[in-house]
Amino acid sequence: MPTVALRRAPSRRRYLAREIPPAYRPKPFNEMWTGELLIHGDNLEALRWLRNQPAVSQKVRLVYIDPPFGTRQLFTVTAQRMATISRGNGGQLAYRDDVSGETYLRFLRGRFEAIRDLMVDGGAIYVHIDCKVGHYVKCLLDDVFGPENFINDITRIKCNPKNFSRNGYGNVKDMVLFYKKSGGQMIWNNVRQPVRIAMNDQRFRRAEQNGRRYTTTPLHAPGETVNGETGRMWRGLRPPPGRHWRYSPSALDELDRRGLIEWSSTGNPRKKMYADDAVRAGAKVQDVWVYKDPQNPRYPTEKNLEMLEFIVENSSRPGDIVLDAFCGSGTTLMAARALGRRWIGIDNSPVAISTVKARLLDCVMYDLIAEARMASHGYVG
Ligand SMILES: C[S@@+](CC[C@H](N)C(=O)[O-])C[C@H]1O[C@@H](n2cnc3c(N)ncnc32)[C@H](O)[C@@H]1O
Repeated sequence: MPTVALRRAPSRRRYLAREIPPAYRPKPFNEMWTGELLIHGDNLEALRWLRNQPAVSQKVRLVYIDPPFGTRQLFTVTAQRMATISRGNGGQLAYRDDVSGETYLRFLRGRFEAIRDLMVDGGAIYVHIDCKVGHYVKCLLDDVFGPENFINDITRIKCNPKNFSRNGYGNVKDMVLFYKKSGGQMIWNNVRQPVRIAMNDQRFRRAEQNGRRYTTTPLHAPGETVNGETGRMWRGLRPPPGRHWRYSPSALDELDRRGLIEWSSTGNPRKKMYADDAVRAGAKVQDVWVYKDPQNPRYPTEKNLEMLEFIVENSSRPGDIVLDAFCGSGTTLMAARALGRRWIGIDNSPVAISTVKARLLDCVMYDLIAEARMASHGYVG
């Protein structure tokens, strides 16, 4: 694994070359920045350091973060880590989630502001949070990114139904708050959900002479248009009360000319939708996602890789920089690499860092914590 290191401070005392651990030989940022960088350190410090690096400052296109949720718990990894990651006091400490209340929100605010400063105008940020603190975090994000830049509060189904004995509904969801940084065009690749239509699907029981199966859908939608053209008469017909035409009269004429409107025997027009077109187009993704987390995680609270691949694919382009400042086991970084994006991951947990190194074998790692330790002995980064 390539490593990065320190240059010697000009003062203090003279160190012999052999006293400098080889892992900490000096290297400027641009030499270590190959497009992938894993930083071991406190993320606020790391984000501020990155702000001084022109190669990445204000160039981050997509951020996904999954910070601690203020649960007042310790997350540990036991010897049989694949099977028994626990939330108790036994095992090796992976990370502490022991800050709560106002201190927790202050902690997050500082990170949100530092992240925003690294993002390109129009960059996207997804903040994964639970329902206990999520509403407070939304207020913070409104403050830092502006309420006008809020895009979605996504409900994420995280696990199978639960059968708690306590009085209350089973909690199977958490939330992902999606914002953009103001000022620029946001990347939106409109990735669609796959659609499958069975041969015996009753909705598509009609067929053209050439065998193309289709269904029909109303040409009008809820809501009255008072003055606009979609509220007007078309071919002698008004939209039903309380509804408006989905298309302008000229667009309706064009659909009819192309044979895409089916007229019933009573003169009611409906739009044809072909099964093969529907499969080809896929479906618009909605704001409830089902991405259950791994049953046997490598790391506590490890997230679903497919969810991260979807986010990266939809909100960035190949070559863009993706940042995860609470990267844990590196799920975001895995997705970014698989999709040809550049990435920066930050975590202050040695367990997280070694998990990422095991998943992304040849990644470049910069150790800000070791650097601080070395600096206190007379060396600076
Ligand atoms: C919920 S986990 C992230 C899990 C990750 N999404 C995954 O898929 O593996 C939160 C991570 O934030 C890290 N973390 C907490 N406070 C931090 C800080 N101040 N600086 C850097 N990392 C921090 C923890 O060590 C932990 O790994």
